[in-house]
Amino acid sequence: MCLGKTYLDCLAAFGIGGAHPGGLQLTKNLLANERFDENMVVLDAGCGTGQTAAYLSKEFDCQVLAVDLNPLMVEKARERLVNLQKDICIEVADVQSLSYEEGSIDVILSESVISFTNLTISIPELTRVLKNNGKLFAIEMVLEQPLSADGRKEITEFYGMDQIWSVNEWMRAFLAAGLTIESIEVPELETDIDDIETATDFSLSESIDETFHDILNRHVVLTENYKDQLGVRIFKCTK
Ligand SMILES: C[S@@+](CC[C@H](N)C(=O)[O-])C[C@H]1O[C@@H](n2cnc3c(N)ncnc32)[C@H](O)[C@@H]1O
Repeated sequence: MCLGKTYLDCLAAFGIGGAHPGGLQLTKNLLANERFDENMVVLDAGCGTGQTAAYLSKEFDCQVLAVDLNPLMVEKARERLVNLQKDICIEVADVQSLSYEEGSIDVILSESVISFTNLTISIPELTRVLKNNGKLFAIEMVLEQPLSADGRKEITEFYGMDQIWSVNEWMRAFLAAGLTIESIEVPELETDIDDIETATDFSLSESIDETFHDILNRHVVLTENYKDQLGVRIFKCTK
């Protein structure tokens, strides 16, 4: 990776909100039929700049928790959330090792986060903190078609991922953690370019290294080059 800077460092420097495929619009669609009351605890796992956490706290009465491994992301999420009247508990934490008690969370959202972790550690850990009958919603990258060894290396090195998982491999990981898979959907990724509320938002750092522009450009190129091999699924699981 260019000068030791990673793709995730780049997202943090630009402070890209809704940094998952489909952005906030897909989050809204995903949650459209959910009902969260004030007794429920919802965790935005890998919250980035907190766009989804802010949406959750504005739309629902539930208690919102948010964690991210990247301190700059958490700082930018705090800046976003400080103006909301709600009490949102946000902290730097690794979804592979959470401080929450077992069975303490009703709903967990992972919006393009588990893909960046070791699935065999993060999925069991997220399952541990979920209540019985709790839900895990994950919007994640999947391998649609076999990739050459070089292609796999290029993608995993660029995004800093251990692996790229096929839908079957994701399913095996959820089932191995004791979750039930309720549905697997191919999301509608079209966004409404006239809708300011769901447009990608940025919380730029004061100075942005030129390297980060290169990384963002490379992301765009890779997305285009591998559009047939890489896809997205929404996994809805219950414990
Ligand atoms: C593609 S971004 C998505 C951010 C956010 N969910 C969103 O949709 O805007 C991936 C995020 O996962 C976070 N992340 C990666 N590995 C993590 C881990 N082990 N624990 C917590 N957060 C992690 C990164 O810091 C980054 O903010």
